[in-house]
Amino acid sequence: MIDLDDKDSALVKKSFVKILPRRNEFSVSLYDRLFEVAPDARPMFSRDMTRQREKLVATLTLVVNSANKLSELHDDVRELGRRHVHYGTELAHYDVLRDVLVDTLADYLGDDFDTETRAAWGKLYDAVADVMTGADGKSPSRPH
Ligand code: HEM
Repeated sequence: MIDLDDKDSALVKKSFVKILPRRNEFSVSLYDRLFEVAPDARPMFSRDMTRQREKLVATLTLVVNSANKLSELHDDVRELGRRHVHYGTELAHYDVLRDVLVDTLADYLGDDFDTETRAAWGKLYDAVADVMTGADGKSPSRPH
């Protein structure tokens, strides 16, 4: 699992700190957007999204804070990806969620979401998603 370099790591941290005071709204917007773009994903989740939104914020916090040492999370992230196979998550959903995350960040960060910050978030998402889906070539549990 690739580690972000210090510059990218600092960019995701600096931008995420600005989201944190509005993390509840942010997580509502993210899932609203996801279900708008991929309505087929809605039934995979509980009706009440409160717990899921909390897990999303906790996971983002962990991943952002570990951006320059993601390799330490490799085994946990691979397990997370395996659980997602059982949730019914397909590869295409990972691409949708990438766009949804970037668009929601753009909404909340405005001018602070500059080109370099956007690219750093893309790298962070890809590093995690590639291990979850086995696209890093090391996990045998790539969903179909
Ligand atoms: C980098 C990408 C993703 C991350 C980091 C992530 C993270 C998580 C976490 C931490 C949980 C909590 C449960 C657990 O630990 O197993 C979870 C649950 C879940 N995720 Fe994801 N996820 C990602 C992508 C996706 C995608 C693309 C989908 C499909 C649209 C998805 C659908 C679900 C579902 C259905 C659950 C279970 C909900 C429930 O049990 O009610 N996830 N995810």
